[in-house]
This record gives sequence, structure tokens and C-alpha cells, in this order.
Amino acid sequence: MTEAGEVLDRRFWNGKKILLTGHTGFKGAWMTMLLRRLGARVAGVSLEAENPSLFEQAGLAKRIEAHHVADLRDLKQIQAIVDAERPEIVIHLAAQSLVRFAYRFPAVTFDTNVMGTVNLFEALRAQKSVQTVLTTTTDKVYHNQELGRHFIESDRLGGHDPYSASKAATEAVIAAYRASYQQPNGVISLVARAGNIVGGGDWAHDRLIPDAVRAAFSHTPLSVRSPSSTRPWQFVLDALVGYLMLIETGARQKQIIADPNDAAYNFGPLPDQPSAAVSEVCSWIAEIWPERFSWNVVAANSAMKESKLLQLDSRKAVDVLGWQPRMSSREAVIESISWYKAVHSGSDPYELCQQQIEHRLAPVRTSI
Ligand SMILES: NC(=O)c1ccc[n+]([C@@H]2O[C@H](COP(=O)([O-])OP(=O)(O)OC[C@H]3O[C@@H](n4cnc5c(N)ncnc54)[C@H](O)[C@@H]3O)[C@@H](O)[C@H]2O)c1
Repeated sequence: MTEAGEVLDRRFWNGKKILLTGHTGFKGAWMTMLLRRLGARVAGVSLEAENPSLFEQAGLAKRIEAHHVADLRDLKQIQAIVDAERPEIVIHLAAQSLVRFAYRFPAVTFDTNVMGTVNLFEALRAQKSVQTVLTTTTDKVYHNQELGRHFIESDRLGGHDPYSASKAATEAVIAAYRASYQQPNGVISLVARAGNIVGGGDWAHDRLIPDAVRAAFSHTPLSVRSPSSTRPWQFVLDALVGYLMLIETGARQKQIIADPNDAAYNFGPLPDQPSAAVSEVCSWIAEIWPERFSWNVVAANSAMKESKLLQLDSRKAVDVLGWQPRMSSREAVIESISWYKAVHSGSDPYELCQQQIEHRLAPVRTSI
């Protein structure tokens, strides 16, 4: 047996000062725990945690160095936090992240996602401590003509719906700040575009896994609008480990991302783990939770158009970063549902997350 080495270098992360936006959200809570496990010092800035939330369930307010409740739309508040924290690395996850909410409230979505990013980057502009910034946008950032092929990073950006457009506009903001202020000062600014992330502790509305869990808990069939829509489902820790590998690589080997047009990376299932339709995901959940979960198809709201087919080509992350997702979409869904079932039967949410994190950080053992 050989050891392929750990996926992340704990010496790089140990003691690093991180500013994490969106730490009270689903991915932010997981990211907080992952970074703490690596020994990083994490200051979070977000709106109040929703109820319920993984942040509350895992008791993260007391496990993080600083828990700032502030609105990214308020430059003064954000500036004060950045100046107080003096971070070395900034991970920007905060956003209005829901597609259907964005249809109802486009102005709030653009304000949060676009101007929120402008405010954060403006606050960082004067801060000499900052070396690397990573912002997450989304797989929905691509101009999607449903051509049936996987998107690569150099594809044209654009969005038909407010959420996708707000994230494409966010990327324009990132590119302008990178070229005008960050690159001339040696600051690395990276972008991670991930697919549909699944994992325990997501309680957002209008997302398949949390909607399915709520339906199962209340013994009601889940109403599915678009059973044939296909998405790159992936496990939360596979994506987040990829984000940290990107930061590590960016910090160490600046030449890899010397081209400012080359600072975006897709993180999705690999070609031999194809995207899956919503109906397939529902059948996986029904398989492992037959006593509680069932589903039926209802008419979709034609005014709220969502892409039918979304597939990411993640070969760049594999080739340049050495990143590999460890779970197929099916395994990711099963792992997620198992988390909710375990918490429902009394397991400690924080401990469950710690076990999954330790498992994901463990070296891959391969036979030769
Ligand atoms: N979950 C997914 O499947 C997925 C997929 C691709 C990309 N993303 C992106 O990843 C990021 C995190 O996603 P998530 O699922 O954790 O989202 P989430 O909705 O669970 O969390 C959003 C976080 O942003 C914070 N936030 C929202 N508005 C804010 C404001 N005005 N000021 C300060 N903080 C604010 C919230 O308080 C929360 O902490 C988002 O940028 C999202 O668009 C998510």
C-alpha cells in the first residue's frame, strides 16, 4: 500500500487568518468546521443564521474566532470588520443563493450578490494583509444554450434568470478588481464555480435535498416540478476541499494562475460520474428512506425558467490542482440523507460533521 498524501497541507492552513463571508449559511458552516479542523483562525461575517441552520445545530458561534453579524450591502460595516480582522485569506461565500427567491426579489439578489461583492472588494482594497481572495459563483454562471455539452471555464458567461445573471455580473466585478487593484499589488483573486452541492445541514427552501427531508419528516409526498432537469450534484466536502486546494495552489504557485483570465475553476462530478436527473435523485432517496419518502410530479411554473441540462467539465481542477471528488452523485445524496436521518434519531450534528470531515481529509490509500 502507498499513501498518496493528504489532500490539504495542514501546515499551510495552521494559524492562517481567514475572513469567511457567509459562515452562517450551509456551505459556510461546513467551511468553518473544515478550516477549524485544519487549524486556521476563522472570522465569519454574515447575516444572522436562519432557523434552523447547521451553524446553530453545530454550535459554531462558540467554535469560531469571531462571529460578525453584518450586511455586505453596508460598506461601512464591512470596512470596519476587514480593518479589525486584517485577514490573510478571504473566502467569499455570502450571497442570496436561491434561484426561485431571486425570481421574486431580483433587486435584493443583485444588490447582495453584485454590490455586496463590490463592497467587500472595496474594503479589501486598502488592506495590505490580504494575499488571496476566493469567491464562489456557480455552475449557472454560464450562458446556457442547452447544447448538451459540458461547460469549460473559458465559455461565455451570462444568465437568463436573475440569480444566474447576478452571479455572472459578480464575475465581471471580480475581473475588474483583479485587473485594476489586486493583480498589480500581488493579490491572487480566484473564482470557484460549483454545481449543486448536497450535504447534511442544508435547510434552504426550494432546494431538492432539504425539501425532500422536510417532506419525509412530515410524511408528505415531495412535489417535484422538473423531474428531468439534470444537475451536477456533488458532496459538500468534495467541493470545499477543492476550493481550499485552489487557494493553496494559488498561494504557492502564482504562475499557475498568472493569466487573470484563467483564475476560475469548475468543481463538479467527473465525466465517469455523470450528472443526474432530479427523478433519479428522488429514486435514490426513496431507496434508502422508503418508510418516509415519496414523491410526485406537479406542473412547473413556466414563468420561472431553469436550465434543463447543466454539466460542468472539471478537468482543469483535476489536472492543475490534483483535485478529485471522492463521491459519485448517488453516494453524495445517500451520505446527505444519512446525516439527516442520524440527526433525527438523536446523533450530534457537530460530531457527524467532524467524522465526515476527518474521513474526507484522510489520505487516499492505493494499492500498487
Ligand atoms: N448550495 C449550492 O448548491 C451552491 C451551488 C453553487 C454555488 N453556490 C454558492 O455558494 C455560496 C454559499 O452557498 P450556500 O448554499 O451556503 O448559501 P446559503 O443561502 O445557505 O448561505 C448564504 C450565506 O450568505 C449570507 N448572506 C446573504 N446575504 C447577505 C448579506 N446581505 N450580507 C451578509 N451576508 C449575507 C447568509 O447570512 C448566509 O450566511 C453562495 O455564493 C452560493 O451562491 C451554492
